[in-house]
Amino acid sequence: MIDLKAAIRTIPDYPKPGVMFRDVTTLIGDPRAFRIAIDQMVQPWAGAKIDQVAGTEARGFILGGAVAHQLSVGFVPVRKKGKLPWRTLSEEYELEYGTDTIEIHSDAVREGDRVLLVDDLIATGGTAEASIKLLQRAGATVVGATFIIDLPELGGAKRIEALGVPVSSLVSYEGH
Ligand code: PRP
Ligand code: MG
Repeated sequence: MIDLKAAIRTIPDYPKPGVMFRDVTTLIGDPRAFRIAIDQMVQPWAGAKIDQVAGTEARGFILGGAVAHQLSVGFVPVRKKGKLPWRTLSEEYELEYGTDTIEIHSDAVREGDRVLLVDDLIATGGTAEASIKLLQRAGATVVGATFIIDLPELGGAKRIEALGVPVSSLVSYEGH
């Protein structure tokens, strides 16, 4: 069995001293690791009657597109502000310094659609929480959220589960 952690590159002190950056470009650049990661992300949700997969710009697009294709469902891009051409819903969320805003098309899901959220990594959970709120405001039921990497010390997975959205992830790192 392939070691997914070994396929993830860790860059110490990026983007600033003390941070260990978990870089998934090495994993998605490895054909075996990429396929296995997508298979493992899908596996807990295979029986969950997913109607749509949503992925958050930018790294969530790479994985979310592959997960959607694997599940034979459509893909909803959750984009950074100002990128979508049609009517949008917006959510602001906290960054370490300041805030950012993400958007979806207001008609991206149908009322009651069962949506699986995909991203590469969950840290504080701020990005995932904002993505979930957008999808719920558009009428979706967010059935779950799946990530390659969890940083449990930052509390993101607990924060998302407290919203009533179950979380799955493939690898976790203590320390960040
Ligand atoms: C990273 C990562 C997640 C998010 C996790 O994205 O890809 O989307 O941070 O952090 P959080 O749980 O604390 O919100 P980033 O905003 O760096 O942008 P990118 O995906 O466009 O590279
Ligand atoms: Mg991201």
